[in-house]
Amino acid sequence: MENLIHWLGPLHPAVIHFPIACSILAFFCLVAKRFWPKEKWSEAAAILWALTFLSAVAAFFSGHALALQFGIVPQLSWIPPASALHGQLQEHALWGSASLLLALFVGIAAWKILNREPWPDGINLGLGLVLAVAFAVTGHEGGEMVYGFDHEQTTVNAGSSDLFDSLGNFHENLVKMNIRPWNSRAHGHRWVNTYVSPDAVEAYKRSDPLPVGSVVVKESFEDDNGQPSGTLGPLYVMKKGAVTDSPRTRGWLYAFKWDKPAPNNPERLKDAVKWLPGDGHLASCIKCHSHFRDEDYLGGVPEGFENP
Ligand code: HEC
Repeated sequence: MENLIHWLGPLHPAVIHFPIACSILAFFCLVAKRFWPKEKWSEAAAILWALTFLSAVAAFFSGHALALQFGIVPQLSWIPPASALHGQLQEHALWGSASLLLALFVGIAAWKILNREPWPDGINLGLGLVLAVAFAVTGHEGGEMVYGFDHEQTTVNAGSSDLFDSLGNFHENLVKMNIRPWNSRAHGHRWVNTYVSPDAVEAYKRSDPLPVGSVVVKESFEDDNGQPSGTLGPLYVMKKGAVTDSPRTRGWLYAFKWDKPAPNNPERLKDAVKWLPGDGHLASCIKCHSHFRDEDYLGGVPEGFENP
């Protein structure tokens, strides 16, 4: 299951273009038929509709896998909770599901055309239009969620002083935001606790932008048969610097440290590592956290684990 998610999820951005393009092309074929009445146009549209349906099914599965992989939703559900990405994900999933059902219905029209008992051209044209619009809207909604998603950015402009030195004893200086650890898929399936600066607590709870200078620390413990073990995992850190210093992450600096990497870790680390802001290894942090742009790049504490 995990392998499937990791394999399917990344296909979503590539796959989604097919139903959008095919449904639009099918519509154009039917429009062309109005001006140039040849049966071939209907047949072309029917084949494009079949491709629309097949690629929509692939988009559906890969989309759900992606949301799981990125830790945007806690578990698989047809319609994601309204809390995910300020409801944007729910809207995208609703449009996507509607488009998929519509594609199934249009599949019948395609079947009819290929079997030479087509529905009237006017009906096919109308269906084609509705289908193309539904996929276009789904794509637009999806694009909005990842707008600002920057593939090329690998580094951020960082103050190079050692972020970890300035942390001090975070168990004492910072406020723990969860009551018990949860298993974070996004951070190597480790058990995690989240700590934030005292003056950032309220903003963090409300998903408002954190004040400049805030730090968020996520400590982690390796998994032991579904329970947190005593073995320390990596320390994940985010620090809010000046927006002008790293505008692309709205000021956020990311860092990662693991003093004693556990054997067979997914990151394939052998010796102690410390990645400070600007390190290329941190590109994945930036990429994934960009999905939470509207929550100041913070994923937050999952429901039921909050420290009141
Ligand atoms: C695949 C997506 C993903 C990746 C990659 C990722 N994170 Fe996260 N991060 C999340 C999510 C989701 C949360 C909140 C829920 C959770 O932890 O499970 C979060 C939470 C955090 C938090 C706590 C603050 C908060 O609420 O957002 C810190 C600190 C953090 N991540 C740092 C990092 C660092 C450093 C890296 C890179 C080494 C990284 N993350 C990589 C998705 C990701």
